[in-house]
Amino acid sequence: MSEKHILVGQSGGPTAAINASLAGVIAQAREAGCRVTGMRHGIQGFLAGHTVDLAQALPDEGALALLLRTPASWLGSCRFKLPSLDDMAFYDDAFARLEQAGIDAVLYIGGNDSMDTIAKLGAHGRRAGSPIRFIGVPKTIDNDLVGTDHTPGYGSAAKFVATATGELFRDADVYDLKSVTFVEIMGRDAGWLAGAAALAGEPGAGRPDLVLLPEVPLDEDALLARISDLLASKNTVMVGVSEGVRTADGRLIAAQTVAAGTGTDEFGHLAQLSGTSRYLAGVTKARLGVKTRAVELSTLQRCASHVASKTDLDEARELGRLGVRAALDGQSVKMCALERVSDAPYETRPALLDVLEVANKVKPVPRAWISADGMDVTANFERYARPLIAGEEPMTYVDGIPARLAPLA
Ligand code: F6P
Repeated sequence: MSEKHILVGQSGGPTAAINASLAGVIAQAREAGCRVTGMRHGIQGFLAGHTVDLAQALPDEGALALLLRTPASWLGSCRFKLPSLDDMAFYDDAFARLEQAGIDAVLYIGGNDSMDTIAKLGAHGRRAGSPIRFIGVPKTIDNDLVGTDHTPGYGSAAKFVATATGELFRDADVYDLKSVTFVEIMGRDAGWLAGAAALAGEPGAGRPDLVLLPEVPLDEDALLARISDLLASKNTVMVGVSEGVRTADGRLIAAQTVAAGTGTDEFGHLAQLSGTSRYLAGVTKARLGVKTRAVELSTLQRCASHVASKTDLDEARELGRLGVRAALDGQSVKMCALERVSDAPYETRPALLDVLEVANKVKPVPRAWISADGMDVTANFERYARPLIAGEEPMTYVDGIPARLAPLA
């Protein structure tokens, strides 16, 4: 059998575990005797002719071990929406490039928008009778992919959010003074990551008093009344708030502070979604007359590989390996997934889904996992999320700083 040639790319927002999936793809491909080429900056870079020979760039086990603990998308990323399948010229050109490079399988590590890329390439491949396989390997800190119990990248971001929120609470609580701190957490359409703030510790010792998710429309008056009640009995109130929180008529709170002209990306998402905490801190200060602070965890929460969850890294790597095995088994237009077997002891098993069931869809936090007043998550949420942040992978330090793989030129 001739050597198979795998093309791998990373797409969408990075995570602290996205390179663990890449390391899994490369390790499994090498064990199977395959050649592996990387797309620079996702499918957009590949179509512009930018690739990297991974045998040269990552020659040995040492390089793969460093890759595992290197934050962000080492191959580079893109947010690029493929045109509709009617655009035959586009797909003919894309497949001509794949064939010219001698590609047998494409593995794409990404979120719901990236699964749209796999779905479209796979659909064209089927209609054109192409033997090239297309497999999606999931990642997103937003944890909003349907069909899979959770998504690699989420556990590490959740561990960072819980850790940082707990530390912020201790700092906010030092003065004998009334104050309200809003911690803004990523998650464009779903509150999975904001909910992770509730894993920060005991109430009064780190856990925010309130957690606001996009799943429940924000009632500003009800929120301020609740904060005011809390301030009657304690000094320090902390609110974890998702960047995706909206009003009852669907307007993003963040949109009220986003600079005019920020615009949308190719998938129609508001680019640089941020400002929710600033807005709420301003309103609270004006209406309640207390000290307020807005803390945006921003991109720190998805690149903080120094507090990556071992569970997350292990699962990310395993799904990368599964993707290669699936492609070599002849599977296509599939996404690798995780099924939960049990919460305690925590156990999952790998699965393969039809990527069409996943692409462009969003999985919200179930309403039953959010408190009746919509301002907190419940014990069910915690039971689900707690195992995903478990475990630490040893890290090598050089001159006091975590060792990382050098960026690609
Ligand atoms: O990939 C998901 C995500 O991290 C969201 O949580 C966030 O809203 C968005 O990406 C930010 O995108 P960008 O990196 O393009 O600013």
